[in-house]
Amino acid sequence: MRTVELQIADVAFGGNGVGRDGGKAVFVPFTIDGERVSARILREKKNFAEAEMTELLEPSEHRTTPQCPYFGQCGGCSYQHMSYEHQLAVKQRQVEQALRRIGRIPEPPMRAIIPSPETYEYRNRVTVHAEDGVVGYYRRDAHRLIDVERCPIAAPELNAQLAELRSRKPRDGHYTLRAHAGPRVFEQTNDAVAEAMAQLVESLLPSGELLIDGYCGAGFFTKRLASRFTRVVGIEWDRYAIAAAQENAAPNETYVAGDVDSEFDRQLHGSEAAATCVVVDPPATGLSASVRDSLTRHVPSAVVYVSCNPATLARDLGELQKRFSVMSVTPLDMFPQTAEIECVVHLVPTAGSADSGSKPHVDTTRA
Ligand SMILES: C[S@@+](CC[C@H](N)C(=O)[O-])C[C@H]1O[C@@H](n2cnc3c(N)ncnc32)[C@H](O)[C@@H]1O
Repeated sequence: MRTVELQIADVAFGGNGVGRDGGKAVFVPFTIDGERVSARILREKKNFAEAEMTELLEPSEHRTTPQCPYFGQCGGCSYQHMSYEHQLAVKQRQVEQALRRIGRIPEPPMRAIIPSPETYEYRNRVTVHAEDGVVGYYRRDAHRLIDVERCPIAAPELNAQLAELRSRKPRDGHYTLRAHAGPRVFEQTNDAVAEAMAQLVESLLPSGELLIDGYCGAGFFTKRLASRFTRVVGIEWDRYAIAAAQENAAPNETYVAGDVDSEFDRQLHGSEAAATCVVVDPPATGLSASVRDSLTRHVPSAVVYVSCNPATLARDLGELQKRFSVMSVTPLDMFPQTAEIECVVHLVPTAGSADSGSKPHVDTTRA
């Protein structure tokens, strides 16, 4: 395989540095924009190539020493070699680029990325795997386990649980270690950033008649916002999460166990658009075509889109722009040292798009 000398110009979403070899983009993990490297080409495609760094010729001023002995082999972290300030700058830029390139938003109204107060030891939940006496995470380049004694991005109590798990030589399988007790349902992973995110979402929405929270989990946003609305409806297909949400629900909270694809339209259809706000927090695949369609047909008075994938977010905003204006985009660093990026986007109907609110108010909620 040939070796090339590259000037790394950018860090792409996913974490790889990008250089150019004769015009072709070459992706090199664990490199930083501004660096000059030698790299061995591992895979060559028509439009791009993948390579591994063989020598660091000119290091970036943002290069730093990883805290984890497994960094580079483990599939979890991508950025431990980068100063935290630079990780934030890279993530902010990646979101902006995705919105420009995929979403075709020429000037995304970016707000500054919200950092994590803890850059290590922040995870309140990790899943480790056991196989043939090895307990740890999968390698980044193969479906093989690395024997992990300690994970520096996991909270100290999780590392204590990991030590205990390892000591009892567990059977083969997957083990989710959690810092919080409670039902085994989706939970935001970084407590401090989750709190900042909830405050942000709250600050973006006006008080009103109805809030529909699509992909509500156990009601993380719904419950927080319930006192600001006459009624709130959370939709989620995980019945355990819905049961947890219902357990301490106030009278104005309704939780619907079902697929957002069908339930979202039902809820929006029966509501007065001008008096309705929406929160959507979908998985990495983003909004389905039917949810995008519901939003552009019913046009609620405000939408907050919480995303864990800038690429699908950009795709969805590209379509939602038909009826909505993007008022602000705020990246949040929920997952320091990793390539993951969380975003909160605020949308309002563009002039002339808002539903006149003439639909009758029909209560179609199901408890
Ligand atoms: C990113 S989580 C957000 C959860 C919640 N907003 C929170 O902050 O805890 C996405 C949630 O959507 C649920 N989900 C994914 N696809 C769904 C669908 N098509 N219909 C209903 N729920 C779905 C998942 O079970 C998960 O709880």
